[in-house]
Amino acid sequence: MDRKSEVEGVEIMALSRDVEEEDLKYIHKKAKEEFEALSNHTLLFTGANGFLGYYFIKSIIAWNNLYPEKKIQVYALDIFLKGIPEWLSKKGIQVVKSDVTKYKLAKSKKFDYIIHAASIASPIFYRQYPIETINANIQGLMNVLEYMVKKSKSKEEVKGLLFFSSSEIYGDPLEGNIPTPETYRGNVSCTGPRACYDESKRFGETLCVNYSRVHNLPIKIARPFNNYGPGLRITDGRVIPDFANNILSNKNITLLSEGSPTRTFCYITDAIVGYLKVLIKGKKAESYNIGVENPEISIIELAEKMKSIALKHFGYSGKIIKEKSADQNYLTDNPNRRCPQIAKAQKDLDYNPEITLDAGLKNTMLWYKDIYK
Ligand SMILES: NC(=O)c1ccc[n+]([C@@H]2O[C@H](COP(=O)([O-])OP(=O)(O)OC[C@H]3O[C@@H](n4cnc5c(N)ncnc54)[C@H](O)[C@@H]3O)[C@@H](O)[C@H]2O)c1
Repeated sequence: MDRKSEVEGVEIMALSRDVEEEDLKYIHKKAKEEFEALSNHTLLFTGANGFLGYYFIKSIIAWNNLYPEKKIQVYALDIFLKGIPEWLSKKGIQVVKSDVTKYKLAKSKKFDYIIHAASIASPIFYRQYPIETINANIQGLMNVLEYMVKKSKSKEEVKGLLFFSSSEIYGDPLEGNIPTPETYRGNVSCTGPRACYDESKRFGETLCVNYSRVHNLPIKIARPFNNYGPGLRITDGRVIPDFANNILSNKNITLLSEGSPTRTFCYITDAIVGYLKVLIKGKKAESYNIGVENPEISIIELAEKMKSIALKHFGYSGKIIKEKSADQNYLTDNPNRRCPQIAKAQKDLDYNPEITLDAGLKNTMLWYKDIYK
């Protein structure tokens, strides 16, 4: 195994490649049945150049290398605003550079499975691009749904569609609704600065449920709760890459709030396994929370955890400071608590996330350190 010493006197660290290799093995082990189900089928993945696409597609590339007789043919669709990344262009994956709202699906290949992940997921960016966010979630989704209807009429049924909704559909849950079950209806502003995202995810779910019921289509919905890990760009504007960026630039860790809101954080491998299970085993027209129930920690506790991991592994000696964000809407409608109940996914899908927050954060920091050196 390739290893390198980073800072004299501190722990030797693994390369990002080692982290990725272990993670992909874990995904294959935990979702073996789901990979088998996808084998020898075609899969369209929209939003392939995003955070979730990174491990999703890498895990399929690795599966195809391990089991060439069980190949999953992936079509990786994205708008690729900054070009097609090297890891995606090399490996025999079909890359589709297109806006999902305009892509002529009917004229393309037949897809057995579709994962619709195209959206803008970072609050910093969806506030800047609200119309594009709504379009990807509504028009892009409609494009996919209409394709499914057409194919089912011509007896070339799509076997499954996974729509990426969000835990944000719950808004800022009222007391008594944490941990939040799928039955909670939410407490969401329809006009606030986050509404472009929250409400388009909510309406996206409404579209999925109605298309599924009216046309009897196998449409499933995942509600992700705060994923993190390799693949999440350090400049993405979500809290873990922000803190990692502070640490790796040798600056203080900067909180842009009082640090009191709480979250649970789900490491990317457990999240990908959960999404695959929703796609393959989820019930039609139903939504599943995918995330972890504990620990539910405050943002300041998260900063402290990342600081101590960075001290141990890189000799980081920065402090935690508070500042006001230049974005005046940074905290508007920011939920105070976010924590899922995952009993439904455990019961229906045998979903059982295992990676601890400490292990996931360590992997993430090592990966960032190596990738952004
Ligand atoms: N990562 C999380 O913790 C999380 C939490 C809740 C919901 N989700 C949802 O999961 C999905 C994937 O999340 P992510 O973290 O990978 O997001 P991301 O922002 O990292 O990636 C989304 C990708 O979609 C692409 N895209 C956006 N609009 C497009 C369009 N019109 N046509 C084609 N491509 C387009 C972007 O270029 C980007 O590569 C999103 O729908 C997101 O809302 C993610």
